[in-house]
Amino acid sequence: MEITEKEFADITAYIYRICGLDINESKKYLVRQRLEPLLASHGFASFSDLNRTLSLTPDNNLRDQIISAITTNETSFFRDIHPFETFKAHLAPKLIELAVSRKSHNYQRKGPKVKIWCAASSTGQEPYSVAMILSDYMAVHKPNGVTLDDFSILASDISPKVLARAVAGEYSDLEVDRGLDEIQKVKYFNKIERMWQIKPYLQKMVEFRRINLNESFSHIGAYDIIFCRNVLIYFDDITKKKIFSQFSKLLNASGLLILGVTENLYGLSDDFESVRYGNSIFYKSKVKEAVGGGSL
Ligand SMILES: C[S@@+](CC[C@H](N)C(=O)[O-])C[C@H]1O[C@@H](n2cnc3c(N)ncnc32)[C@H](O)[C@@H]1O
Repeated sequence: MEITEKEFADITAYIYRICGLDINESKKYLVRQRLEPLLASHGFASFSDLNRTLSLTPDNNLRDQIISAITTNETSFFRDIHPFETFKAHLAPKLIELAVSRKSHNYQRKGPKVKIWCAASSTGQEPYSVAMILSDYMAVHKPNGVTLDDFSILASDISPKVLARAVAGEYSDLEVDRGLDEIQKVKYFNKIERMWQIKPYLQKMVEFRRINLNESFSHIGAYDIIFCRNVLIYFDDITKKKIFSQFSKLLNASGLLILGVTENLYGLSDDFESVRYGNSIFYKSKVKEAVGGGSL
């Protein structure tokens, strides 16, 4: 189906408004390719028809279908490996010290003592990779008085479609083969017919929520680590600045922001300083005073 300049301008303005994705002319084919099945299933004869409906009747269902169709959900277990190696070698021990310290200082927060957020987590491979590292570390080191319940991992995404898959925790052969070896597959999954089902102890560590990074998310609480990887590339600088400003306020004083390997916040925020851990650069918030003792 053809898409005129006006149709393209209207649909991309709508997409920018609802989820912040900054789509330029060079992505015209992609918009067509991703939205055409939706147009067909709703019986829209043209993009103008779709745009007209969107402007006349707010329809959350249609909106969610557009979000699910237009977002790029590429991900894999231990994607880009080195941030996870760094997390395992440098951060897991410190997060456990932090949990011990907060427990012994009667840290005011009830429930989990250390909180991690994977913003834009797609189908769940990223938060489950973090859960695998933490649970393995705990199993080996058995720190006194700290259990897996002292850690929480919030995983969020804007797309209801990928969130549903993440919650289900079921992956195909192809998906588990991207990032996991045979030993890891058997260790972390139960094979159920043709799918690999994440084991309940890992699934229990991750809570899934729908969060739009293009809206205010300052109510979600304080975090020690925020992973926000491979999504900022789709936003313009205005949106990125708003997101970084909110991240800096949500991070505890010693908290760290972990971006995708091609992403950085140079020129976009003065609220962070970069810190090198092993082969990775992470970002430390400069905004808050330390809470609950310990630092990363
Ligand atoms: C390429 S995936 C990255 C997944 C994972 N972080 C990784 O690095 O493997 C980008 C994800 O960002 C999500 N996304 C796009 N716009 C968003 C927004 N405004 N708020 C929250 N998530 C968004 C998409 O639905 C998609 O699942």
